[in-house]
Amino acid sequence: MSNFDMIIKNGLVVSPAGFSQTDIAIKNGKIAALGKLDDFGEAAKVIDANGKYVMPGIIDGHVHIAAPFMGCTGPLDFYSASKAAALGGVTTIIDFTNTMPGDSVLKKIEDRKKEMQIAAIDYSIHAKIVEANAEILSEIKDIVSLGCPTLKMFTTYRRAGVMINDEDILKVMEEAKKCGARPGVHAEDNTLSEYNDDKFTQAGTTGWKYHYISKPPMVEALATKKMIDFSRAVGGELYIFHLTCGEALDEVIKAKKKNLPIYAETCIHYLELNKHVMDDSETGYRYICSPPLRDDKDRMALWQGLKEGVVSVVSSDNCLYDDNEKLGFLDKDKSGNIIPDYKKIANGVSGLEEKLMLLLTDGVGSGKMSISDVCNVCSVNPAKLFGMYPKKGIIQPGSDADIVIVDMNAKKTLSYKTLHYGINSSVYEGKRVSGVPIMTIRRGEIIAENGHFKAPKGSGQFIKRVL
Ligand code: URP
Ligand code: ZN
Repeated sequence: MSNFDMIIKNGLVVSPAGFSQTDIAIKNGKIAALGKLDDFGEAAKVIDANGKYVMPGIIDGHVHIAAPFMGCTGPLDFYSASKAAALGGVTTIIDFTNTMPGDSVLKKIEDRKKEMQIAAIDYSIHAKIVEANAEILSEIKDIVSLGCPTLKMFTTYRRAGVMINDEDILKVMEEAKKCGARPGVHAEDNTLSEYNDDKFTQAGTTGWKYHYISKPPMVEALATKKMIDFSRAVGGELYIFHLTCGEALDEVIKAKKKNLPIYAETCIHYLELNKHVMDDSETGYRYICSPPLRDDKDRMALWQGLKEGVVSVVSSDNCLYDDNEKLGFLDKDKSGNIIPDYKKIANGVSGLEEKLMLLLTDGVGSGKMSISDVCNVCSVNPAKLFGMYPKKGIIQPGSDADIVIVDMNAKKTLSYKTLHYGINSSVYEGKRVSGVPIMTIRRGEIIAENGHFKAPKGSGQFIKRVL
């Protein structure tokens, strides 16, 4: 009889403070012990991770899988998304309810939970709140009891029907504070961006690049400042989803100096991609996401924000569509040529599978981050901020054995051909990465190994979260 189900030996185990060569013993899906193999005795399986980093599994706390946007749902369901995720070192995702005005959010959580049952990685749900009538406000305590204590509100997308008004945001913030939930915001000022949309529509200037011109950093900074002030007025906490630019980051820095409990997330594409990719009239539409991509100055401010700990989390905001879906809503001229209009493109890009490889390459590889910084922004901080710590997000006795083994010497070219989204383009096409996850373990089970995905449909678990 083996003492343990699995031992990972000789690896460089990454923690929030650094890394050290430690052996890991796993039993019944949990980390059973850390130490020296000689002290452990037998295990059914021994993995030699010599020369490799052994990190907590990646928690991607911002993904949109099969989420309806302008009538598109993208190519992935929760099982195919699990494959891309596992091959990218991800062991837990958090998606969102698809709430529209009039919906019960509780009912939407149950609906989403059913859809997610086919996942092969662990999962949870943020509650999207689009209005704050008495019924919705009374649901917030039950949303918390269901294990989904994190909320998302949109200060924009009025025309898509999901923007919540300012009075309602304050009411939700109040109620969240009472019930132990944390509100989060997609912060872009709707009035300014709609003003620009209408101006460009009238002028006939609607090419792809007008997406970023219509939503300059000021649009995000204005809403970010307002949401921080709302949160300050209520005396609550606030999570800022997908912060993209120096101007909005400055608002977070000011808030942190006042010791306000404001937490900022950025996403991998805002660190990696420059807005001018949208200037290409052929392919620019592929990069349309909201908030939009920014310039190099903003990208550098975000890298700096990560290094200084002002930005706490890097998510993917994975929300991808193939070319047909992205282009499917555009009008055509008499000759059948599409008429570019950035407002008619489904928003979103990929990142679930690429994120860790890109952070290892352009963060660790270029000296902008240490390996424990990556562990903090991809595992430890999301686990803490989303209420899963120390069950998830850390390699320590008692925690779930969610682990990714990384080979910093392995190289790969990112392409729609090497990624696993089932679409025929990639926003990272041709990008060389150095630093690749070679094994992903979810609750003690190997779910991906050397590019092969092995987890059965439905083997993921819903994770009940508590803040
Ligand atoms: O462009 C994006 N980000 N699409 C997903 C929806 C959202 O705003 O997070
Ligand atoms: Zn958003």
